[in-house]
Amino acid sequence: NREKSKNLFTFCVFALSEGSVISYYLSEFDVPQGQEASVDSAMSSMDKLVDKEQRRYMQFSMHTKPNEIGQIQSPGFPNSAYPPNTFIQWQLRADPKHIIKLDFDTMNLEEDCSNDFIKIYDSLRTLVCDALCWSHAVMCGYHSPSQPLTFLSSGNVMLVTMASDKENDYPGFRAKVSQVPRGTVTCGGNLMGEKGTFTSPNFPSYYPPRNLCQWSIQVPNGNAVKLTFKTFLLSEPGQKDGEDCLKDYVQVNGKKFCGEKPEGTVTETSQTNTMEVVFFSDASYVDRGFNASYEAINAKDPCPKQFQCRNQRCIKTELQCDGWNDCGDMSDELDCKCKPQDISCKNGLCKPMFWKCDGVDDCGDQTDELNCGCKSGLVTCKNNECVSEKHLCDGIDNCGDGSDELNCGRSTGVLCSDLTYKCKNNKCIDTVNPECDGTPDCEDGSDEENCDCGRSLFKTSRIVGGENTQDGEFPWQVSLHVKGAGHVCGASIISPQWLVTAAHCVQDDPRTRYSQPGTWEAYLGLHIQGNTAKNVVKRNLKQVIAHPNYNAYTYDNDIALMELDSPVTYSDYIRPICLPSPQHDFPAGSTVWITGWGATREGGFAAKVLQKAEVRIINYSVCNDLMKAQLTSRMLCAGVLTGGVDACQGDSGGPLSSPSGSRMFLAGVVSWGDGCARRNKPGIYTTVTKFRGWVKEKTGV
Ligand code: ARG
Repeated sequence: NREKSKNLFTFCVFALSEGSVISYYLSEFDVPQGQEASVDSAMSSMDKLVDKEQRRYMQFSMHTKPNEIGQIQSPGFPNSAYPPNTFIQWQLRADPKHIIKLDFDTMNLEEDCSNDFIKIYDSLRTLVCDALCWSHAVMCGYHSPSQPLTFLSSGNVMLVTMASDKENDYPGFRAKVSQVPRGTVTCGGNLMGEKGTFTSPNFPSYYPPRNLCQWSIQVPNGNAVKLTFKTFLLSEPGQKDGEDCLKDYVQVNGKKFCGEKPEGTVTETSQTNTMEVVFFSDASYVDRGFNASYEAINAKDPCPKQFQCRNQRCIKTELQCDGWNDCGDMSDELDCKCKPQDISCKNGLCKPMFWKCDGVDDCGDQTDELNCGCKSGLVTCKNNECVSEKHLCDGIDNCGDGSDELNCGRSTGVLCSDLTYKCKNNKCIDTVNPECDGTPDCEDGSDEENCDCGRSLFKTSRIVGGENTQDGEFPWQVSLHVKGAGHVCGASIISPQWLVTAAHCVQDDPRTRYSQPGTWEAYLGLHIQGNTAKNVVKRNLKQVIAHPNYNAYTYDNDIALMELDSPVTYSDYIRPICLPSPQHDFPAGSTVWITGWGATREGGFAAKVLQKAEVRIINYSVCNDLMKAQLTSRMLCAGVLTGGVDACQGDSGGPLSSPSGSRMFLAGVVSWGDGCARRNKPGIYTTVTKFRGWVKEKTGV
């Protein structure tokens, strides 16, 4: 009955247990020609792990009883940490015609799954293998007890294994074990009526392996079925999103879906009043599954009183031609007649007027940024005054802020102002952003000193709306872990021994003393959470210095410094970002990068792989209006006002990296936002230029 699965090879161990007599049988299925050798080698490597790693071996077994809840836990739990260099197996059995339910209430292991881990198998034996691994889950690190973490077996056996490496100080796990009659966790069936919902079995916890469910939806005659997935989590290692879905999948009207999809993005509409939905899970990895709703729609008018996008989505009519891409395919923003209060872009788009002249090309064809400055023959000062071109570089401050006297090529005799760069010899030069640009501008060359920063292996250079970085692309990015609890905040490397982060990351709360260096461990050179590859350096902290004027209500002065307990050696994966001088200019509209392991959507889960996203600096007064005047002069805004791209929970303290020449400068520190990636709600960052002196004073950097 397994021919539906495309598994090359299936090796099953079932326990047929009745009373005290337990028998097993092995069944082997066909191995496709040419694959025999790899299967053989996988088989021979099985169980070797234990000897190879020289771990102590322990084995437990448990037979669950009806209506009783058993418990398994790591040795010593909850009084002491689990033992090092140990490999433990728990063989769990249930009565015939029952399945096993394993429900973790605590899960707190070392972060790195390649050192310490728990694996769950839908069998009684382990198979150590690569391509053929069919444990249904691998877990490590910390899981919040508020999120259910239960697993179901497909038959009446389950194997839980736990491996640990060297000495560590983590509590371990505890889980309840019970049996439920097979068939209680049902799925599929006939769904009738105008609307309804259904989920994968055991949702929102993990669905069982080897499961096949089938739903037949029927809505009243003359209607069509519209199906929307709210949650969709069917990821499996080795199965890429958007590919053939050979492993776990959902099939709607013959179309397969798999992987992880953002909320509400999978919708399907039927031609008739019925729809068939299939859910399949194979023997290996399981995920949390899906939560779907269906409704009857009028096939002739699929979007009653709404606008229908080209991609079949329905959106509120008011959202048409409002400057936002609500459909996702832009179809709601094409062929628009703009309202008088809107900017009519040449390309036919309409955009809200407050985006005019904000330094960002919102139309996409620059229409909104034309005719912004002064009339021809005049130049625009930094303070938006207009002065005659003739006054440029004439030695007189005509603008009133000195901006008509910048970039005139004068390296001596320039009056110092807020806009001029001050060399080490205390003389000022009029070059904008002269530091580390490869040309000595100061007489004493001090603008090119301490310039081993801001470069990565890469020439170019989940965050919401982001994408995976390459390993080493942002080598100044640090992951700050609270010991035993995992990633909490980001930080940036500024020297071999100092990091910059956000002050709000290091404020004590009743449960955790975040202000204490001993609370933290810093991961440098990290790419994937839990994957401490050879490039990763873990450091304890010697000191945490929050800015003394940090204001927990306004987030003003949201910056802190951390000193590592010993300096790190730079590598391709670990290097500092450049600190900007106090006068460094990060103009509105310029491209900057945000990076972090924070949530990949508002209220969502943290990212495993370091995410990056490109955003732009947003004009200060536009931003202050959008944020209801909550900005101080020590904050700057960056984002994408159409929404969809932003930093989010867990990115705090991380860098806002600004490219200048071939280097990156630390323009900001991730500080706060109103939700994440909402439209017209950019991310707010601590302005690093304002703290250059403070950083120097505290760290010498
Ligand atoms: N304060 C958040 C944290 O602690 C980061 C907020 C950034 N939010 C935003 N929408 N840009 O991780």
